[in-house]
Formats: sequence, structure tokens, C-alpha cells
Amino acid sequence: MRPPHHALLVALAAAVPGCADGDGAPPPAPVDLPAATPHCRAADPADVEARVDAAIATLSLEDKVSTMAGTGEGGFTYPVRAFPDLGLPGLHMSDGPRGVSPLADVPSTAFPVGILRGATWDPDLEREVGAAIARELRAAGGDVLLAPTMNVLRHPRWGRAQETYGEDPLHVGVLATAFVEGVQSEGVLASAKHFTANSIENTRFEVDVTLDERALREVYLPHFRRVVRQGAVGSVMSAYNAVNGAQISANAPLLNGVLKGEWGFRGLVESDWVFGVRDTVAAANGGLDVEMPQPIFFGDDLVDAVRAGDVPEARIDDAVRRVFRAQLCFGLDADPPVRDVGRFPFDDHADLAREVAARGVVLLRNEGDLVPLDRAAYDDVVVVGAPASAPNLGDTGSSAVEPPYVVSVLEGLQGAVLDRAVVTHLPRPAFPDDGARLAAADAVVLVVGLQADDEGESVLGPGDRPDLALPRGEEALYAQVRARVPAGRLVVLLVGSGPLTTAATTGADALLWIGYPGMEGGRAVAEVLFGDAPPTGRLPFVWPVAGADLPPFDDVSLAVTYDRWHGHRYLDRARTAPRFPFGFGLATTELRLTAATLSDASPPVDGEVTVAAEVENLGDRDGVEVVQVYAEVPGSPHDRPRRALVGFGRVAVAPGQVSTVTIPVRVFDLAVWDTALGGWVVERRRHVLHVGTSAAPADQPLALPLTPR
Ligand code: BGC
Repeated sequence: MRPPHHALLVALAAAVPGCADGDGAPPPAPVDLPAATPHCRAADPADVEARVDAAIATLSLEDKVSTMAGTGEGGFTYPVRAFPDLGLPGLHMSDGPRGVSPLADVPSTAFPVGILRGATWDPDLEREVGAAIARELRAAGGDVLLAPTMNVLRHPRWGRAQETYGEDPLHVGVLATAFVEGVQSEGVLASAKHFTANSIENTRFEVDVTLDERALREVYLPHFRRVVRQGAVGSVMSAYNAVNGAQISANAPLLNGVLKGEWGFRGLVESDWVFGVRDTVAAANGGLDVEMPQPIFFGDDLVDAVRAGDVPEARIDDAVRRVFRAQLCFGLDADPPVRDVGRFPFDDHADLAREVAARGVVLLRNEGDLVPLDRAAYDDVVVVGAPASAPNLGDTGSSAVEPPYVVSVLEGLQGAVLDRAVVTHLPRPAFPDDGARLAAADAVVLVVGLQADDEGESVLGPGDRPDLALPRGEEALYAQVRARVPAGRLVVLLVGSGPLTTAATTGADALLWIGYPGMEGGRAVAEVLFGDAPPTGRLPFVWPVAGADLPPFDDVSLAVTYDRWHGHRYLDRARTAPRFPFGFGLATTELRLTAATLSDASPPVDGEVTVAAEVENLGDRDGVEVVQVYAEVPGSPHDRPRRALVGFGRVAVAPGQVSTVTIPVRVFDLAVWDTALGGWVVERRRHVLHVGTSAAPADQPLALPLTPR
């Protein structure tokens, strides 16, 4: 159904004088939301609604309210009450974004963290990851996965940076939607979290984020809109923080107005855990459906509030309807999850975890084409740094996973070359004694970076990073190693959720960012280093030269104001060169973007175009390019990002071959939020779609003009 809001906009745009840009361009066109994917997966959604209504009619107010909070009971999952007599099995929630939680007490697969999966730029693979985690969750007895974490990474110091996919709303939205599709294809609800503007850990329970309408619409909402409208996500978790003065669980403009009203979300909104609700009446009336994990505000107080007339009973019925609908739409009545620990570990999921990690690793420097390392040429490899042997999966907060085993980087490298080379590990080399050892090695692999003590969820972990530097004196270690290893022999692997401002970014012979690559990470890294898999990852965030190049990050104040500028858009606006651009990553073969065509140069404002780009492999190794499309609107009267990501696609190219990748671009994604009109408009002027391999204009060799009609 077309929301009245948008009908109004069409009328407004026709009526408002001066809608034209004043430079001859026709007036911009207000645009409606793209069509939504049907929410209910059941064969007969009308029957579901009838069953839900009938069930609600039989319940007392107390019973209805009891479904609006977790039961608070322990066990393997966080349950929401069942009504067996009504054929309603309840819900069974569990974390999380990189695998099934240790609370489920199963040896689950530890996939690479979200930010490394974001670096794959591969929604098809992410769909598989979502489906795999959901299969494991069902085997653990759960039916609601508390994932994906899909907050825009406003600043890389955010303690949970590792959980999300990156800094760009379009990129995050596409990956999160694929993950949700995968999860829900297995009959498990995904829970898009944390809605919204959750991007600081240390003040996460308290902070009030002030956002103007344009910042909200263009930066902090589009990825959630996509996961609701296109991904048909079953549930949304409200964030702890407040936006514009109201905690999200009680934020009527965002929950009732945008999420349920404008976007037509028919699933349930659950609070973040324990501190996610502060006010019974405001949360119930604001649009929160379920308080988790137990009734603090949504218990007797809510019953009393209804009796006192402060919360309409119709609101209670709406919340209960959403909870029951979720169970029936996902078929949990007929096909509930059955706990079966014997199905663990899932061996094929380990293979998937390795493949994802290998695809996500980003090659950032490769002087003299050092990578791939030639196995036959090395007899003596020295691995330096304590993180090399650490089973470093990332945060130990709610996203933690305890897998059956972890292959460390050291074990991965040993496994890759053991038949011929001696691999020595120097966790903390002593100088000058170990200097000669380093100088004599055929290759030195230095592993430095972050671990669970350095960044993670607050309260359960260390919270936000204090800065972007290497911890524990590792910068000095790098300098000492660099000083001893001859040129052409030093590979540096950087571990952690994002950019590290180390001299290794300009001084290592080869440099790779490996995120937290999961339980198969060591094998995946070795595959890339030795050329068994091509490096294909591309940065899902900008890598600044210095922390000061980014906007300020305030994890102390209880009130912060964000504008529309962060990440690569912020640096580009300031014309600050990054160390490595957003979207950047090297290949080990020569890939060239040779041609691009557009399916329609004057598409309708509600249409979609496709960019077909040709990539040639001029080298003699396999390669993969991630072709990226950035939109520019020259002369726009709106203050827009110079070039905004509007589409991307991955393509594998064999040596000597040319491959074509087809990238869909929705014209809606070219729209700008017009504050005066209070709606989205597509400018009917010349746009330019720049086609390239990173956000840096210099990496965008092809341009396709397009004028929406
Ligand atoms: C986290 C959520 C998580 C929940 C349940 C909260 O503290 O913010 O992301 O899903 O706990 O573990």
C-alpha cells in the first residue's frame, strides 16, 4: 500500500513554486519506496492473520502482556512465552553475528567477523553464511538469530566495529539483506540490530544522538530500510541509545512513524538486553513489542498502565499479533527447531568459514610482487609476534563463539609449507640476539594488531578503542623487525576490526589486513599468502593516514551530534587523501576495467538500471575484481557527497580473459532527502555514474551519464 505520506509528497512537489533547481533542470521527482518483499513466508498469510486474531481473542490482558517480554528463564536460548494449547510454540532467541552463542552450549562454527565478511563485497556468499548459522541455531534449539549487527561504522574506534559490515549505508544494507535472506531461508527469524545510530560502546546505555532529518534519512536509516523492505526481516532490535531525545525503544517517530508506518514493517521489535527499556508507557506506546530478556518494564506495570488507560489495549493486541504472526509466518508451529547436539560440528560450515575468510583478506601493499610467496623458494620462514599463535576470534561479548577448534595463523602457515620449509615462531624476539635470525630468514611474517582485550562490547569486554595505534608496543616491534629484515622479505599481517595507523602501511614489503578471520582463519590466510586463493578482499572502510583525519569520536559525553559526514565521504569532502581508499584492495594479477555500458541513460525515477562492466586479466594468475559504481550529480543544488556508492559486483577473471559483471543500480538510490519537502527526490538532471575499483576518483576510469526522467 502506498503510504499517504508519499501521496502527499507528490502533491506537494507539484504545488511548491521554485521546485526547479533554478538552473534550467526540471523539478526533482518525489519518489516512493521500492516495492517490498512479502513479509509472511507461510503459504496462506490470510489464514495466519485469522489464527492470530482468534488466539488473541481467547487471552486475558495478563496473558497478552506476558508475551511482550522474554520469560527470563535460563536454558540454551532466551525464550518468549509459548501457548501450546493455541499451537503457538513461542520464540527462542540466541546470538549472534558470527556464529551460534556459547550460551547454546554447542561447538558452533566461528565464521570470520562481519567486517571481514563485508570485505568480500559478496552478498551471495553472505547469504550462505546466514543460512549456515541459521542451520546451526535450529540444531541448537533456537529460532530467532540476534543478528546481523548492521550499524554503519561511523568511526573505527567503535568497540563493536568488527560485528558490522562497514561504513557505507548501501554496502552494509546489501550485505545485511543477503545475510537475512540466508537466515530466514532456513526458517529462522533474523533480528536486524541495533536500530539505529548505535556506534559508541562506552556510553551505549546512555548516549543521546542528535541527528537532523537528512543525516537520519541518508546515513542512519537506509540500510535498515533495505533489510525491512527487501530482506523482509522478521524482527528488529532497538538500540540502547537515544536518538533526538528518546531512547529507541520509546522512540515513536522512529518505531511507529518510520519503521512500522512508512516502511510497513510487520515483524516485531524487541529491545536490546536489560537496559534497553526505561519507561513502560513510553516504550509500549512508542512501538516496542517485546522487552528482552525479562519483564522489568513490560510486566505488571504494563498491565496497570493499560488498566489506567495510559496504554490502549489495541496497542497490546498489535504487539501480541506481531509476536504470534512471527511464529506462524515462519512455520514454527508445524516445524519447530529440534535441539540435536549430535549434528555438531558442521564440517561443511568449516569449509565455508575458510572460503569466506580467504575471500575477505585484503592485500594492501605488495612491493615487488612479493605475494604470492613461492613455496619452492623458501626453506626458512620466521613468524614473529604473539598474535600469530593466538586463537584470536575477536570480541568475547555477545558476539562470542566457542568453536571446536581454531587454526591460528602460525598453524596455517606451518600447514602450508611444512613439507619443505622450517617455520620458526618468535613471539617476542629479543634484540639484538634474534636480529641475525631475522636477517637470515628467506621470509619473515610479522603478525600484529588487536585482540579481544583491545576492542569489544562494553561491560562484557573492553569497549571502544582508545586510538588507532598498534597496542602493546607492537609499533616498536615492527620498527625493530623492519630494521633487520632485508627489503623484499617482510610480510606484515594486521589483525583487528579496522584501520591501524602504523608505519607498516608504508614500510612493509607486503601488507595484508586479515580482520578476525574465524576458526579457519590461519588456513585461509596461508592460502592467500601462498597463492592457493587469489586475494580478493576490498576495504569496507576508509583507512586514514592519521586518526585526526576522521571526525571526532566522543565516547565520554552523554550527548553527541552527528552530521552526514564520516568515513570516505568525510575525507573526500575535506580533500584529505586516505592511506588506503574505501573499496581498495590489490590483486596479484593485472586487472583492467576496459569498458562499461548502461542499460538505460534516462530511466524512470522508480526504475532500475544495470551497469555492465568488462574486466580484463592481463596477468597470468586468476583474479577477482570488485567493480564499484559511484554516483555524482554535477551542479546539484543539494549538498551531496561528491561520489556516493550506488552499486557493486564481484567478477572472477581467468588469465588472458575478459569477463563482464552486471551491476544493478536502483534509481531510488540516487535520491536525496529534501528537507523542505520532507521526502525523497530524484534530481532530473545529469548524473554521472563513475565505474571503478575504489572510492578514490583516480580509481574510477569510466563514466556513464544518466538523466532520470
Ligand atoms: C547486545 C546485543 C545482544 C544482546 C543479547 C546485548 O548486550 O547489545 O547485541 O544481542 O545483548 O546477548
